[in-house]
Amino acid sequence: MIIPTEIIQQKRNGGSLSSVQLREFIRQYVAGNIPDYQMSALLMAIFFRGLDADELVTLVRTMRDSGKVLHLSDITGFKIDKHSTGGVGDKISLILAPLLACLGIIVPMISGRGLGHTGGTLDKLESIPGLQTRISLTKFKRILREVGFVIAGQTDEIVPADRRIYALRDATATVESLPLVVSSILSKKLAEDLDGLILDVKTGTGAFFPKQEDAIQLASRLIAVGEDFGIRVRALLTRMDQPVGVKVGNWLEVCETVACLQGKGPTDTMFEVYALALLALRAAGFTDDSSELLSQLKQAISSGAAMERFLLYVRLIGGDIQVIENTARCPLPPAIPIIAVKSGFVTELNAYQIGIASALAGAGRQRAEDSIDPVAGIHLHAKIGVVVQEGEVLAEIYTHKRNTNEICKLVSKAFSISAEKLPLDKIIIGEVTRNSELKPFNELV
Ligand code: URA
Repeated sequence: MIIPTEIIQQKRNGGSLSSVQLREFIRQYVAGNIPDYQMSALLMAIFFRGLDADELVTLVRTMRDSGKVLHLSDITGFKIDKHSTGGVGDKISLILAPLLACLGIIVPMISGRGLGHTGGTLDKLESIPGLQTRISLTKFKRILREVGFVIAGQTDEIVPADRRIYALRDATATVESLPLVVSSILSKKLAEDLDGLILDVKTGTGAFFPKQEDAIQLASRLIAVGEDFGIRVRALLTRMDQPVGVKVGNWLEVCETVACLQGKGPTDTMFEVYALALLALRAAGFTDDSSELLSQLKQAISSGAAMERFLLYVRLIGGDIQVIENTARCPLPPAIPIIAVKSGFVTELNAYQIGIASALAGAGRQRAEDSIDPVAGIHLHAKIGVVVQEGEVLAEIYTHKRNTNEICKLVSKAFSISAEKLPLDKIIIGEVTRNSELKPFNELV
């Protein structure tokens, strides 16, 4: 028997909890024997006091084991998922998963929804008419076996502890805690029976952890704990100062995904896709020869193989493939243009402000229960480093909202234009190691 107040007090005072104390606290909470207010108090104590390495491993294991764990050993192949710490315009998973599947990697991907200024992979997919990401584990495995990848939502059966604890964290200002983020992400990933995990850890204005040193700490903690559970974890640190690609908003990002899979995607997006794919292939034991791997990846795009996989997945999960084959079939609301008020170089395109503007346009939600407008979003016509002329269209906003003043102001303010050109930062900052080192990632230059 544990006494919840004693455990809360012990952590509040900076002590370490035994594995029995922490495990029982979580188990009793999930079983309904510990109320939300006591769990909230423990979360706040962890927020301020942190968790040591042993406590973190216990928390991850207990959360993972709070529900069903997938068993994928009957599907042959190296199983990898990719996780992004969240951003604006981040449609990388939708391109990366079919691409890796073409090279024989098995990608069981359980994704999330957007909240606040960041988008979510499930919302993007569900903007495809008919597509349903809430599927049974049996269907999940059937699609995975047939296509080589599957992207779906977390079911009630997988890591119920995270669903309940995350909702409490959201309501008690305890989301931005390193050990709580690590346990939340890894418990879900470890329930997928993976061999490897690729992390896209973002830093910059639109990131969850905007400061580079915090993002590096998060990456190294995720690597260390994940590897202690026996999976290969690799992490790239990427810039989220401006949105990824040129489209932000659910259906708009699906359209951009289709362009990428057809070989017509924006350079920064494909750069990031290829970088993460290289990490995944190397983690899976493929050759170290990056140029050979890159040529195989590019071949999967140019031959149409990756697009075909994507279409097969969309069809099997209930989506209308005709709108994917001809994205113009999905009507958008009239575009509201944002005009450059002076000529010069774009020196800033604030990802956070674009993310908020897109959410206000209808593409995002402030609370988990809010509904979203699948076709709302923003098309960026200029990005950092580009020269624009006064009067030129910088961006177009798609929204069904009547009052668009605030949205227009935010998008306009997100752009800084200057007479002086600033050096252009690469989207990939480097690869993070388990010891918090940052290694250069030069394979794509
Ligand atoms: N993503 C998650 O899945 N959990 C967190 O705590 C933060 C981001």
